[in-house]
Amino acid sequence: MTEPRKIIIDTDPGQDDAAAIMLAFGSRDELNVLGITTVAGNVPLSYTSRNARIICELCERRDVKVFAGADAPLARKLVTAEHVHGKTGLDGPSLPEPTMPLQPGHSVDFIIETLRSEPEGAVTLCTLGPLTNIALAFQKAPDIVARVRELVMMGGGFFEGGNITPAAEFNIYVDPEAADIVFRSGVPIVMMPLDVTHQLLTRKDRVARMAAIGTPPAKAMVEMLEFFERFDIEKYGSDGGPLHDPTVIAYLLQPELFKGRDCNVEIEVTSELTVGMTVVDWWHVTDRKRNAKVMRFVDADGFFALLTERFARI
Ligand code: RIB
Ligand code: CA
Repeated sequence: MTEPRKIIIDTDPGQDDAAAIMLAFGSRDELNVLGITTVAGNVPLSYTSRNARIICELCERRDVKVFAGADAPLARKLVTAEHVHGKTGLDGPSLPEPTMPLQPGHSVDFIIETLRSEPEGAVTLCTLGPLTNIALAFQKAPDIVARVRELVMMGGGFFEGGNITPAAEFNIYVDPEAADIVFRSGVPIVMMPLDVTHQLLTRKDRVARMAAIGTPPAKAMVEMLEFFERFDIEKYGSDGGPLHDPTVIAYLLQPELFKGRDCNVEIEVTSELTVGMTVVDWWHVTDRKRNAKVMRFVDADGFFALLTERFARI
């Protein structure tokens, strides 16, 4: 029996972030969540830090350490997404306010201290929101970059374009300077772009199988998804909304669900028209360094089967 993989989840919950965190909680044999670090993104930091603790208490995981992190991008005004996630960022179910405390200390310092104290190559960073905390940690402690096993991130898009602008996906758009620092850092990146997540629609039959689990976490998740998907159903006219963030955790559990290739990825940080765009050299038309494993294809039925099976274990 191998040791569970040590991970830090950096997140801006967000209903889809909640699904990712719950997938990790339902996989205790494989994943050891060393901590959850929150960042401003979908909603302001006060809400993302509240929501992370609500999710922990919903899943009876008050043991998990939750830290608050950056309340704004490195160099820009915060852009949020209440239009998608609701005012609180976790609209849908009615859940009690958290009673577990935030940990003292900042997310960035927790990331640095954990990477320095754990053996080199032992910790995986799982990012579900803007990359502000990660960029700050790499700037403050460059020595930790080489200590990261892998950084698996939800963000970006290439043939699929953007979702917050025609060119940019939300997580990258909120803090393009942070994304630029991370993609230039040399850390081993696995990228889950919209090209993958837009294949993962919360179709009625899939949500019905989650509802049939019948536990409080599953019930709350269904109510979150029913709220979260309304915006994208309206926008795309699709059967359900794309489920973004759980792809990061699913990759750690069943990487064979995904297919992609090593590519060069660079971030647009200047053009007003395309700021936040992830420029992915999928066809290798340049000799730029292939700094990320970019996923493009996913087994959607396998993904939702994993989600449902693991939600039932929480
Ligand atoms: O573009 C989708 C991403 O932005 C997801 O992580 C969602 O939670 C939002 O943060
Ligand atoms: Ca997110």
